Amino acid sequence: MGKWNYWTERSYYHAELRDRAKGIKSEMEAAKQISQLIFNKAKSYNSILDAGCGTGHFILSLEKKLKDDFKYLGVDITEQHIIDATEIFKENKNFEFQLGDVRDLDVEDKSYEVSICSNTIPHIPQIGKAINELIRVTKNDVFIRMLVGDEVLITKKALSDKFDENGEPDSFMYINIYDKNYLNNIIGDKGELFIYDDEFDQDAIIKHYNEHKDIAGKNIATRIVEGNQFKGYLMLPWKIVHIKLY
Ligand SMILES: C[S@@+](CC[C@H](N)C(=O)[O-])C[C@H]1O[C@@H](n2cnc3c(N)ncnc32)[C@H](O)[C@@H]1O
Repeated sequence: MGKWNYWTERSYYHAELRDRAKGIKSEMEAAKQISQLIFNKAKSYNSILDAGCGTGHFILSLEKKLKDDFKYLGVDITEQHIIDATEIFKENKNFEFQLGDVRDLDVEDKSYEVSICSNTIPHIPQIGKAINELIRVTKNDVFIRMLVGDEVLITKKALSDKFDENGEPDSFMYINIYDKNYLNNIIGDKGELFIYDDEFDQDAIIKHYNEHKDIAGKNIATRIVEGNQFKGYLMLPWKIVHIKLY
């Protein structure tokens, strides 16, 4: 079996997330949109759990949109992100960080009003476990940015040019797409599912593409094709999934 890589080894990405949390790099569009959705749609938002939080950079967008104080716990599987986040946000006692796995959270049942999981679900196996954990620890509203299409596609992006005798890549990352039925089967009678379109900034992606196409390769850098976002050859149907718990 090839080795599943969950971002730990991506040091350039560590620096990028650190700069976002420090406010040196701009807010992510996804962070802005999820914060606005929480403001508009969540029952209340005094306590927020962010699973796969990276360096906790969503806090900056949440603070802008939510205005009121809120308690925040960021959980991430990558130790370096938790070390960086703890240092960056050490002045605010409402913000805490924990090393952990979204599929097995060390958090009490229904202890957060809202939970977020952004850009993480496409890259992990066993998303049923992850979503059930988010439902378990949340009182009212779960928001997940993930890829949702009309069928389920499990995609392994090879991170090495070595393959075993079964054709499995030596090291890989998942970029998985799920469908509405898959999600409804996980949610069952625990809540109602809403799916919102992703409000990505087309001009920002085009700018990013022009800056990166010579480094990454023109067919590999993230790009817009006929209004859709592509990562390499894969179209990315980014959506915000909202589970309104009963
Ligand atoms: C693409 S980053 C997204 C960071 C941030 N949520 C955002 O939207 O910018 C994915 C994050 O998920 C974390 N991660 C991956 N697998 C995880 C797991 N099983 N449990 C918790 N965090 C995980 C990675 O360490 C990484 O910080």
